Amino acid sequence: MATECLDKKQTIDLRKKFIGPSCKVFFSHDPLKIVRARGQYMYDENGQQYLDCINNVAHVGHSHPAVVRAGTQQMELLNTNSRFLHDNLVLYAERLQATLPDPLSVCYFVNSGSEANDLALRLAWQYTGHRDVITLDNAYHGHVSSLIDISPYKFHQLSDDEHKQSVHVAPSPDVYRGKFRADHPDPALAYSDEVRDIITRAHERGGKIAAFIAESLQSCGGQVVPPPGYFQKVAAHVRAAGGVVIADEVQVGFGRVGSHFWGFQLQGEDFVPDIVTMGKPIGNGHPMSCVVTTREVAQAFMAAGMEYFNTFGGNPVSCAIGLAVLDVIQNEDLQGNALRVGAHLSRLLGGLKETHPLVGDVRGPGLFVGVELVRDRVKLTPATAEAQEVIYKLKEQHVLLSADGPHRNVLKIKPPMCFSREDAERVVEKIHLVLSEIETALNMSMPSPVHLENGKNKSKLPEENGVQGEESHIKHIRT
Ligand SMILES: Cc1ncc(COP(=O)(O)O)c(C=O)c1O
Repeated sequence: MATECLDKKQTIDLRKKFIGPSCKVFFSHDPLKIVRARGQYMYDENGQQYLDCINNVAHVGHSHPAVVRAGTQQMELLNTNSRFLHDNLVLYAERLQATLPDPLSVCYFVNSGSEANDLALRLAWQYTGHRDVITLDNAYHGHVSSLIDISPYKFHQLSDDEHKQSVHVAPSPDVYRGKFRADHPDPALAYSDEVRDIITRAHERGGKIAAFIAESLQSCGGQVVPPPGYFQKVAAHVRAAGGVVIADEVQVGFGRVGSHFWGFQLQGEDFVPDIVTMGKPIGNGHPMSCVVTTREVAQAFMAAGMEYFNTFGGNPVSCAIGLAVLDVIQNEDLQGNALRVGAHLSRLLGGLKETHPLVGDVRGPGLFVGVELVRDRVKLTPATAEAQEVIYKLKEQHVLLSADGPHRNVLKIKPPMCFSREDAERVVEKIHLVLSEIETALNMSMPSPVHLENGKNKSKLPEENGVQGEESHIKHIRT
């Protein structure tokens, strides 16, 4: 099969002519044209290979043969909607439920993360009879109107009068640069008290809380890992106010965090959300997503009397693909791989922190890792331009990374789950070389230990973060 029918210039020209200008491409001055991909590698029109460190949609690897086969075989046989009985729908729902704690037992199938979160809001509004929603600062939950309203990542770009009065923004539970940091005696309590205070103020204004929505680990918001116990405490406040807790697992679910299948499970077994939304990795690139909730919430939604129908949601092809993705995760032990390779990656990146002044923080479980770049480790001045430089320089060396967070200074590493130890070593070595170049150009050197120890904002060293230190990682990296 031909992989390309237009030359790159023609593709760019047609895109400019016919595609909305707000649809951005990566590397706009020299965009990539990717024509095929396999596993963790993507290939451009000249056959150049790129190591994909950012594509958490191609969860089990790009174009995984088992997933492609499952979709093709089902497409050859039948695709229709969920008004007909079909085994794929119920078998998939059963398999998915088996990965979740028992109360989360009722599925609604949709086609994108945005649709999933929009439906989650409808479930919450209907179940509680309330309207107000609490969201986290810098959060992104989707592109439809209801979700732009609860996505500070987007609505910070709007004027104040465009903000919904019924939407309340709680501080991001970021213990590195947030309001309460690692040196706070109990950041989980302090951040959850903020939510409690928001609820009190909303009540004073006559509002009633329908939901608290948050990603189990914030991704666009800067790869933020909430302190342990945060969600339990928040859930207690929200439920006491008659609201529900929605965990957005669109980015982080399906084993990416390594130790658990779902990101919210990192908080402990005593935290179970009322609604979980899923997307991106669920279909390995096939448009598919899901909302899972409790029987009580589903009954209340039903009691409203309105039928729920979704033309494509839960069709036999999507469910065949979803089943194949679950099979591959299990058969290839990809969750275990995320744990092992993720730990190796974090160790190597932790080593960078010991030698590169620009590396302020390395955080995240499994294959969901953030590297926050700062110009000053005490003031935490975001190294935004430097982060962009790293991204561009790595692209020139055929490694795809991106930077995000409110200051666009957090390097995001969330590759397909088949990422190997060698891939981890390759990317860290390249980051090391680029950082060395930038730091030399900027005449930066490591701050003295005294300076760091006394720094009010000092963050934990890798060992303290549960990541074993690795003396001079560079020695151990093969090129
Ligand atoms: C956390 C989170 N939720 C929801 C969405 C929306 O998903 P989609 O783009 O599939 O509509 C995204 C997309 O980036 C996301 O990152």
